[in-house]
Amino acid sequence: MPVIAVVGGQWGDEGKGKIIDLLAKRAQVVVRAQGGDNAGHTIVNEQVGRFALHLVPAGIFNPRTTCIIGAGVALNPVFLLEELDALHGLRVSTDNLLISERAHLVMPYHIELDRLQEARRGGGAIGTTGRGIGPAYVDKVSRTGLRAGDLCDPQTLPARIREAVAAKNQLFQVLYQAPGLDPERVVEAYSLAAERLRPYIRDASGALAAALRQNETILLEGAQATLLDLDHGTYPYVTTSSPTVAGLLQGAGIGPRFLTCGLGVFKAYTTRVGSGPMPTELDDELGGRLRAIGHEYGARTGRPRRCGWFDAVAARYSVLVNGFDALAITRLDILDTFDPVRICVGYEWRGQRLDQFPARAEVLAECRPIYEDLEGWQAPIGQARTLAELPAAARRYLERLEQLLEVPIALVGVGQEREETIMVRDLL
Ligand code: GDP
Ligand code: IMO
Ligand code: MG
Repeated sequence: MPVIAVVGGQWGDEGKGKIIDLLAKRAQVVVRAQGGDNAGHTIVNEQVGRFALHLVPAGIFNPRTTCIIGAGVALNPVFLLEELDALHGLRVSTDNLLISERAHLVMPYHIELDRLQEARRGGGAIGTTGRGIGPAYVDKVSRTGLRAGDLCDPQTLPARIREAVAAKNQLFQVLYQAPGLDPERVVEAYSLAAERLRPYIRDASGALAAALRQNETILLEGAQATLLDLDHGTYPYVTTSSPTVAGLLQGAGIGPRFLTCGLGVFKAYTTRVGSGPMPTELDDELGGRLRAIGHEYGARTGRPRRCGWFDAVAARYSVLVNGFDALAITRLDILDTFDPVRICVGYEWRGQRLDQFPARAEVLAECRPIYEDLEGWQAPIGQARTLAELPAAARRYLERLEQLLEVPIALVGVGQEREETIMVRDLL
């Protein structure tokens, strides 16, 4: 009865979607547990070619897998419908999708607030995805949010929306001197969306309980990543949910004793989108080469991703926060032409050596990486399906990561296609 939490170990875009798509072949249930359509999970498979999912769990391409949008997700119903339409256009069935009644809704005023808040932050902007996710979680914590379950009652929905829009319009006018939203347009859009989404909004916790009782395989699909975690990430340059193993269990509504594996997904190097410190960022030609070879542009916003070497100090911290049982190292192939390949094994901060990941973004911003150089392999590895087929230098790189993180590697990504993967250990 494996319950596997697939969690980003860095700043996102580690390739979580590809791994879920791969493992879903043998899973009965996949749950998105947190975050919203700020996520962009790219899938490359025979069925659909290349497709970026934002809300729908990446198990959707397996017709036998139940896909759940869990209680912890911030759900924009209008965007979800666009995504469903795009999937239907590719003849992907979404009959097995189920939305928790408890999931909070992202409303148009959240998107507007996200924009206004970012503008007000000026030079200190977080670089959010602009999808209204932060403001939606604020309303959840303020206990004023609307939830997916509210879409199920056409009698009360319009009044709830009108009340919520009126409250936010006051905020727009007083705090931002910005025009308010027309409540009737929101009522119209959300009532239409509600009608279409109603068949999907069902008792997710009942479905999960049944799956656990029947010892089915459940995958929890993390969005964002540990260093963007609201509590444990590089605050304030973080997202507003908990993309950790514990956060996924909480968001899905599964007790920790059911977890059989926390799988930490790490790129073989580091990327970050948006603002905030990143000690191994390469502002030079090497960083540009990583971005070009890796096509490092955001799946959600198209923004260029900041690129740099693997940061083992940050990664060890991520291992601590999550207690990973196994690692997936993705995109090893992107390093094929680099020599040497570098790993940051410590930070230098104001003349001292730091081996721990600092809590304050201001300190992290002043940290300079201390590198260890390893020999590059300078050969294409995309055809390898076993560790033995990798060049010795690539194996040494992986062994060094395993040593530094003190967690065994279960899976290595050598290409974007579903099958371009080395399964080192069986997870299911
Ligand atoms: P996610 O948000 O964690 O699901 O990751 P994204 O989809 O945002 O970004 C990861 C990118 O890397 C996508 O374009 C994937 O198709 C691609 N990808 C995933 N694993 C590998 C791999 O092992 N090698 C290569 N070359 N690409 C990969
Ligand atoms: P996936 O699931 C990478 C980043 C944003 C910004 C910060 C806050 O594809 O790995 P938000 O819109 O969440 O309030 O923005 O978090 N961010 C991501 N970066 N991958 C993601 O998701 C991200 N989701 C949010 O760029 O820096
Ligand atoms: Mg992504």
